[in-house]
Amino acid sequence: MQTPKSRALFQRAMNVMPYGVNSNYRYFSDEDTLVFSDAKGGYVYDPDGNAFLDYRLGWGPVIVGHADEYINDYVKAALDRGQVYAATHEYEVRVAERIIDLCPGVEMVRLTNTGSEATLHSLRLARGYTGRDIILKFEGSYHGAHDYVLWSTANAKLEEVGERAHPRASKGSIGIPDIMKELLIPCPWNAPDILEDILSRHGDKIAAIIMEPMLGNGNAIMPLPGFLESVRAQCDKYGIVLIFDEVKVGFRIAPGGAREYFGVIPDISCYAKAMGNGYPIAAVAGHEKIMMHFGPGKVFQGGTYAGNVVSTAAADATLALIQKGDVHRQLEKTGNMLMNGFREILSRQGIIHHVHGASALFGISFSESAPRDWRELLTDCSFDVYESVITYMMEQGILREPFALEPFYLCAAHSEVDASRTLQAFEDGLKKVLSGAYTRQGILPVDADF
Ligand SMILES: Cc1ncc(COP(=O)(O)O)c(C=O)c1O
Repeated sequence: MQTPKSRALFQRAMNVMPYGVNSNYRYFSDEDTLVFSDAKGGYVYDPDGNAFLDYRLGWGPVIVGHADEYINDYVKAALDRGQVYAATHEYEVRVAERIIDLCPGVEMVRLTNTGSEATLHSLRLARGYTGRDIILKFEGSYHGAHDYVLWSTANAKLEEVGERAHPRASKGSIGIPDIMKELLIPCPWNAPDILEDILSRHGDKIAAIIMEPMLGNGNAIMPLPGFLESVRAQCDKYGIVLIFDEVKVGFRIAPGGAREYFGVIPDISCYAKAMGNGYPIAAVAGHEKIMMHFGPGKVFQGGTYAGNVVSTAAADATLALIQKGDVHRQLEKTGNMLMNGFREILSRQGIIHHVHGASALFGISFSESAPRDWRELLTDCSFDVYESVITYMMEQGILREPFALEPFYLCAAHSEVDASRTLQAFEDGLKKVLSGAYTRQGILPVDADF
């Protein structure tokens, strides 16, 4: 995928950064790793000036559009007021007030910088609140880079995770101490019976169930009807803190995130990505009764850059736009057009498929019956044709994540014209791959190769 200038820059990058990247997930190969220099609206540009309609959107943060003028002007005005005060300031308060206004059931907020920090702090909060140590997470979910949660993610190998009814935790990286396994119980997604069984044995030792309310890191598989409600009920039964990790879905699938979209209220939500339209900011948010366990002499939470001026100004502006409603009206229009368009094209070609998710975050699976969990994505679905079509589309300047389990992301800068062009390229690519006229395979990050 590299053109002359991006190739030259990537050669320099490989000399000074392991594999030329700052996240393992970004490395595809020495020739195909993406290199960009600019982004505006719904597009990214490589150093040679090639434009790509962008459905990766930095893996989710960009919700309004890249380099949005309103947000950037607002941030520019904040820049001259300093960057960090190590003290409370108005932008922080405004952001917290907006989150409380948007997200049903949120009463208090603590800000931090990244999704990983938000999940780390939320787990310590749940442990401090309950006095228990163990955490339950669902297979196929990603909750960040720290050792408590980097287990049984979408990159895990099936042979390492045990039987569905008796799941085993699979370590996501060497370097994580084996002993951390004692603190984590994995569970298949969308399996209330298995969850009930696990909780009947361990429920009174579990501090928190942390879950993506839809599998944002597993092709946007939705919860089956009643699943989130049953998790909520089980948490209430055993006194477990329910944490929705809304890092991907918060302020994206609805202005009020999963709480609004699914109508199920967890104890704590973790937000990040879309709340800052690309600026680094995150939040732990929830009931006052639990949140007030953060504090001096109680649960520790902190960070030099937590609530910094630039990020909070960006979030203040982003959330203000989201509160107006236009952002999500546009996301729904283009998202529905794309989801329905993909369904029609695949049906015309006689391909059994399932388009699932919400309009601003959706995936496509290819299997007889719709996959219910990460295991079924691996055992029942075939993504080879799809990943070739994705490569074809990249060559046409339409970029979604090459790895099929990462969903499509939309931003409000995507237009109906963009959506039509995308559907046309998809249909062309599909016909060419099916007829054998296009044979290039999918380009996958090395860590996602299964
Ligand atoms: C659901 C979820 N939680 C947490 C994280 C970690 O966020 P960050 O990369 O900002 O640390 C991610 C990142 O993709 C995520 O998708």
